[in-house]
This record gives sequence, C-alpha cells and structure tokens, in this order.
Amino acid sequence: MEQIVILTGAGISAESGMGTFRGAGGLWENRRVEEVATPEGFAADPALVHAFYNARRQKAARVEANAAHQAIARLQRDFPGLVTLVTQNVDALHEKGGSEQVLHMHGRLAGALCATCGHRWDAPVEMQPGHPCPACTAPEARPDVVWFGEMPYHMEEIFEALSACTIFAAIGTSGNVYPAAGFVQEANRAGAHTVEINLEPSAVVSDFAETRFGPATQTVPAWVAELLSN
Ligand code: APR
Repeated sequence: MEQIVILTGAGISAESGMGTFRGAGGLWENRRVEEVATPEGFAADPALVHAFYNARRQKAARVEANAAHQAIARLQRDFPGLVTLVTQNVDALHEKGGSEQVLHMHGRLAGALCATCGHRWDAPVEMQPGHPCPACTAPEARPDVVWFGEMPYHMEEIFEALSACTIFAAIGTSGNVYPAAGFVQEANRAGAHTVEINLEPSAVVSDFAETRFGPATQTVPAWVAELLSN
C-alpha cells in the first residue's frame, strides 16, 4: 500500500494572503526572530510577542483556503492509501480546505497554552500579557505555537510515518528550519520517492529525487491529479 507523507510550509498559504517568513516582504524581514519567536523573547517583552501573534491570528481568521489546500484534502479523501499531512503552519487553512487529519508540528494560532501548567484552551482573538490560565490561574498564557529552541509537536508519530512512507512531498517550505528540513532524508532512508513542490529551490533541494517549481495553487492540484489518476 502506498503511504504518502506531505510536509507543508508558509508557501502553501502565501496565495491565500498569509505572509511567508523569509525573503522580501517576509514576516521576519523587519524583526529579529529571537524577539518574537523564542521563549526568551516572550519573557523579555510579552506585549510585543502577543501583538505579533494577535495580528497573525486576526489575519488567519480572515483568509480562505486556496486550491492547493483543497487539493491535499481531496487527496486525503480519495487516495487509496495512507496520506499523513504534517504542517509547519500555525494557520488553520488546511482545515478550512477540508482536511480532517492535520499534524500541526509548530502548534496553532487558535490555541492558548499555559506556560506554567501546560493546560491548553481556545485562544481569544486578542491575547494579553498576564492573561490567567483557566486551569491553574497563573498569569502565564501564551500562544500555543512552537518557538525556536522548543520541541515540535507530534514528532514520534511523524517519524513513524516517515519511516514507512513510499512518497514524501515537501510543499512551500524553504528548508531552513529543522527538524522539518531533515524529513526528506528520513524519507530517502525509507526508500520513498521524494518530491519538492515550491516556488523556487529550497535550501535542501538536492535531497529530493523530483522537483516541481511554481505557485502552489497550480503545482499542487496538478500533482494531486496525477496521483489520483495512477
Ligand atoms: N507557492 C509555493 N511556494 C511558495 C509560494 C507559492 N505561492 N510563495 C512562496 N513560496 C515558497 C518560498 O519560495 C519559500 O521557499 O515558500 C517557502 C516559504 O519559506 P519560509 O518563509 O521560510 O517558511 P517555512 O519554510 O514554512 O518556515 C519554516 O520557520 O519561521 C519559522 O516556525 C516558522 O514554521 C516556520 C518555519
């Protein structure tokens, strides 16, 4: 049985209007990553970090899934094998596009996490410093997103899927952030066919057997159509 693992990054949501991180106009362009995406940055200036994620949460609530998200949902529904979807994105566009199974390895904008007791709940649109945890009342609510230096979520399940996969696709990710950038090597070890689907070559493009370059709303539906017609 074919087992597909798909990894997505910011590029799949770019045409929906969510910004990417790196490159011209990227979310990181004007900020040091350490300021808004590390536990140390949050401790130093929680108001700045909340403002950054509040703005992204508001944006994410306004935008719609695009043809690439929808094509992946169709693949998950119709492919006569297993399709594991792993995303680095904290938006909910895969879910809006119809995907029922999504592993959010970098967490979700829609989630809040207590930094003291680990309790999770639905984030309000606007989070504020000092917001109390509904479980333990510590004033330590933070966005439930994985920052640099923290362990991504679902790693055991992801590596299990990678070790058994026959096809691995990385879509819309620049290949700069590990462990996700190393998934292709794990898939190669498993003997999978590996394909990079991106606007331009990523930092790890040479690890892939096949490449397809172009905007995700065109390349992903075409790739899915081929898989479903085989
Ligand atoms: N279609 C396909 N790919 C696109 C498109 C598009 N329309 N637009 C941009 N891209 C590609 C870019 O060429 C780039 O290679 O998407 C990639 C986006 O790269 P990044 O901005 O680095 O995003 P990502 O790889 O998801 O970042 C990984 O880093 O900042 C952290 O935690 C954050 O999850 C994020 C992680």
